[in-house]
Amino acid sequence: MKKKIVSFLVSGNGSNFQAVAEKILNGHIHAEPGIVISSSSEAFALERAKKLGIKSIAIEPKNFISKDDYEAEMIKHLNLCKTDLIVAAGFMRILSPKFIQKFRNKIINIHPSLLPAFPGKNAQQQALDYGVKITGCTTHFIDEGVDTGSIIMQSAISIDVNDNINTLSTKILKEEHKILINSVKLFCEDKLVIERRKVFEKNFNAKK
Ligand code: GRF
Repeated sequence: MKKKIVSFLVSGNGSNFQAVAEKILNGHIHAEPGIVISSSSEAFALERAKKLGIKSIAIEPKNFISKDDYEAEMIKHLNLCKTDLIVAAGFMRILSPKFIQKFRNKIINIHPSLLPAFPGKNAQQQALDYGVKITGCTTHFIDEGVDTGSIIMQSAISIDVNDNINTLSTKILKEEHKILINSVKLFCEDKLVIERRKVFEKNFNAKK
């Protein structure tokens, strides 16, 4: 099977990007790295990309007259490397319906809560403030809503009485890396089946 090209949208630390990129580079994920596009030139994710030898570029919204122009620049670079899958890994911008339509079911996002609980920013703090006993993380395809796309994978963790935002975020981040790697791997092996709102893993053994 031809290797898919996986590109990344990042804004900050980039640990999710690195977790997936390392599995692509060591062959665990049947893919080639495309480009890392950061919405901030300060993002540590750009350092990580350099160290991994993966092409990267900062495309900052503030340098464009309109969102349309900003996204057109991103699309240009994504198409230049023939991107098959976009991984939004700690990407803090909202993509337009036009962009999402262009890459329908080809953008995977990682979110640090069990969606549909606690969408949007600071999901870990939302969970702590609400007092839930179980939270976790979710991978999903990005659609026109905020964290409302079809869910691919989830992992749950318990919130312990002594947890604070740092200990909880660290626990969730470990699970984020795991489910993002597995979600990207399944996509690159053409094993994800999407039926309206639901995503299933194609089970090749079913027919035996
Ligand atoms: C993660 O919790 C991610 O879900 C959130 O930002 C945190 C850092 O992600 N969006 P990363 O290290 O930049 O991948």
